[in-house]
Amino acid sequence: MSKDKDTSKLWGGRFNEPTDSFVQRYTASVTFDQRMAAEDIAGSRAHASMLASVGVLTQAELEQILDGLDQVAAEIEAGEFNWSIELEDVHMNIEARLTELIGITGKKLHTGRSRNDQVATDIRLYLRSAIDRIAEELTRLQRGTIGLAADNTATIMPGFTHLQTAQPVSFGHHLLAWNEMLERDHGRLMDCRTRMNQSPLGAAALAGTTYPIEREHTAAALGFDKPTENSLDSVSDRDFAIEFCSFASLLMTHLSRMSEELVIWASAQFNFIELPDRFCTGSSIMPQKKNPDVPELVRGKVGRVNGHLISLLTLMKSQPLAYNKDNQEDKEPLFDTVDTVLDSLRAFADMVPAIKPRVENMREAARSGFSTATDLADYLVGLGLPFRDAHEVVGTAVAHGVETGLDLAEMELATLQGFCADIREDVFDVLTLEGSIGARDHLGGTAPNQVAAAAGRALALVESR
Ligand code: ARG
Repeated sequence: MSKDKDTSKLWGGRFNEPTDSFVQRYTASVTFDQRMAAEDIAGSRAHASMLASVGVLTQAELEQILDGLDQVAAEIEAGEFNWSIELEDVHMNIEARLTELIGITGKKLHTGRSRNDQVATDIRLYLRSAIDRIAEELTRLQRGTIGLAADNTATIMPGFTHLQTAQPVSFGHHLLAWNEMLERDHGRLMDCRTRMNQSPLGAAALAGTTYPIEREHTAAALGFDKPTENSLDSVSDRDFAIEFCSFASLLMTHLSRMSEELVIWASAQFNFIELPDRFCTGSSIMPQKKNPDVPELVRGKVGRVNGHLISLLTLMKSQPLAYNKDNQEDKEPLFDTVDTVLDSLRAFADMVPAIKPRVENMREAARSGFSTATDLADYLVGLGLPFRDAHEVVGTAVAHGVETGLDLAEMELATLQGFCADIREDVFDVLTLEGSIGARDHLGGTAPNQVAAAAGRALALVESR
């Protein structure tokens, strides 16, 4: 036995000198992959139980291993576990401690397994529970958004294109547009979970193992839908991490769009909403300031999440099959993506239900921007004018309004008749804000009854999952 060579390493057998101390630190992952300790232990439990069921371990050995793993788990939970860089990663730290605790049986745990299928299993388990926590926060945000929408089906604000006043819309309708983005995000997250939920355990280093393992056994014990199909793919695949990060990029993109609107709406110039003080901070020099820091930060955090997606895509690009050490670089971007998404969703889920619309200001903005100009054109079409001519007539009316400072609904009937003689008193029904949104009474339209129905459907969908 080569006890005087590199004794500290679980793989030290073929080495003639110890690892360079810098290389040791450079190649170690334990500082960050210890986050997967619980998943690593769960995987080891399933693997050991399977080995016992096929007769590779005795029942007594299995019990020793399970008891030992209990103790390791307790030490980790209590913060008493001594993580060591020399032991490189979470897998070898736990295995070495197990062996320290239970002796030679601990060394049998790794039979028919490799760190390559072990780490692939751990990441999937970790990500699966992260996905479940993220789905919960996302759902909480959706509930809050739909609730605020249901309270504001008839609250009128200007709808914008090019950030210019376009047509009046219900504030609830605008919020339900947010919910549509979030609903698609939820769907993508669930798709990612389904494709990810397969067990790579048993692929071993890359080619499978000579022991009579039962992969269905470990897959079921760990809550996977089934084992993965191909051993080479099992240890090399990180598609699920990339899929998750692309879900995250798109979700954060959506949150950043919402953030931008909140920042604009909360400005003194728009003054459409009040953000509760607890989500804002002050300025150390300008006493009047109340800054919308939370939406601003969420908007800013898209940068790192997009960066992590590119990191993972670049990490996997051109990697030959099967496992390469490059893959150790998958964890930090993935973990930071999980943390950022969870925190950002939490901030939004807490904040959105607390938004107070300034109903009068929204209404005034909608009223003063010629937002019912299209309604007047549609009215003229109803009188028999071709749409293009109606558009021209209304353009002239708006020009007059700009000159005189009057909105269309504020002009005298006689003035309006000066632009088109056929206009009657009933024109004012369509020029009012209520008339304008109420007339868009179809599926997906902004009429308050449609918005109320849409909120009901959206909530039912959220509650059905
Ligand atoms: N720490 C490694 C990782 O994160 C575990 C797998 C190491 N496998 C190996 N053959 N060196 O990928």
